[in-house]
Amino acid sequence: MNHHFLLIVHLICAAIWVGGHLLLVFAYLPKALREKNQHYILDYEKKYEPVGMSALVLLVITGILMAYKYGVGIESWFHFATPIEKVVSVKLTLLIVTVLFALSAQFRVLPKLKNNPGALPEMGFHIVSVTTIGVVMLILGSFVRFGGI
Ligand code: HEM
Repeated sequence: MNHHFLLIVHLICAAIWVGGHLLLVFAYLPKALREKNQHYILDYEKKYEPVGMSALVLLVITGILMAYKYGVGIESWFHFATPIEKVVSVKLTLLIVTVLFALSAQFRVLPKLKNNPGALPEMGFHIVSVTTIGVVMLILGSFVRFGGI
């Protein structure tokens, strides 16, 4: 597939993933904490989840396809040997951390949060962590055009 097309899809999905999480951090999370009302978060998550998860899946697919076009195939991942491979390997590592946070939120925190606003700080920690990682992944991506890290 054409690299430019993959990059456009990657950028749209990055906007959805990072933008959606920044909205959560700067608009819904403070409101939920202030009013001790977890439903701001739960309602947003319900609407955002299908869009956000589709964006993340497309980020991974387009990212891996572009990595191959840069000559960074699966056999070189996690060697941290060349500048662009380093970007790809750090991004894949952060992707694994993101998935772990998502699983922890889904199976540990969200069930508690449904009936108990006391779980808001723990949910907030998950949200801020995933958002920060998303921003770092975006910044890392921007290094590719400068030759990597
Ligand atoms: C939350 C997840 C991700 C975000 C927010 C993200 C964001 C970005 C952004 C903003 C760029 C910059 C493109 C440019 O400079 O024009 C980029 C490039 C890139 N990303 Fe990602 N990315 C994510 C996940 C991934 C994953 C999982 C991979 C694959 C391992 C990946 C591989 C790449 C590659 C190879 C480029 C360079 C494309 C190019 O400049 O030609 N990304 N990414």
